Amino acid sequence: MRTPQTLLLAAAGIALTAATAAAAADDPMVNRLLASQCAQCHGTFGAAVGGMESIAGESASELSGELLEMLADATPEDIMEHQAKGYTRDQIRRIAAYYSALPKPAGSGSDD
Ligand code: HEC
Repeated sequence: MRTPQTLLLAAAGIALTAATAAAAADDPMVNRLLASQCAQCHGTFGAAVGGMESIAGESASELSGELLEMLADATPEDIMEHQAKGYTRDQIRRIAAYYSALPKPAGSGSDD
C-alpha cells in the first residue's frame, strides 16, 4: 500500500543512492580499477617496458586530452582509439587523475 510514509521512505532511499554514487566518484580504488586495464600495455603503474609509451606522471590534462580526442574520433583505426571508446568522459577523467599522480618512470624521456 502506498502511504505518504512509504513514498517518503522511497524518496529517502533514492537520495541516499545518489549520495553514495557521488561519493564513489572520487574513490581512489575505483580510479585504480579503471586504470588497471591500461597497465596491460603501458606497464605496471603506467611504467612501460620495451618500446612502449609510459603514461605514469604525465599531466592529467594531457592524458585526458589525448584520450578524449581518441574517444571523439568517428573512425577509430589504431589500438588506442578503440581502447578510448570503452570509457565514458568521467572515467577518462578518473584514469588521467590516477596516472598523473604516479611518479614518472626514470629514464622516460619524451623522445624514447
Ligand atoms: C592493447 C594495448 C593497449 C591498452 C590496453 C592501452 N593502450 Fe594506450 N597505447 C597503446 C599503443 C600501441 C599506443 C601507441 C600507438 C597508438 O596510438 O596506437 C598507445 C598510446 C597511448 C597514448 C599516447 C602516447 C603517450 O604516451 O602519450 C596514451 C596517452 C595512452 N596510450 C593512454 C592509455 C590509457 C590511459 C589506457 C587505459 C585506458 C591505455 N592507453 C590502454 C596500446 C594500449
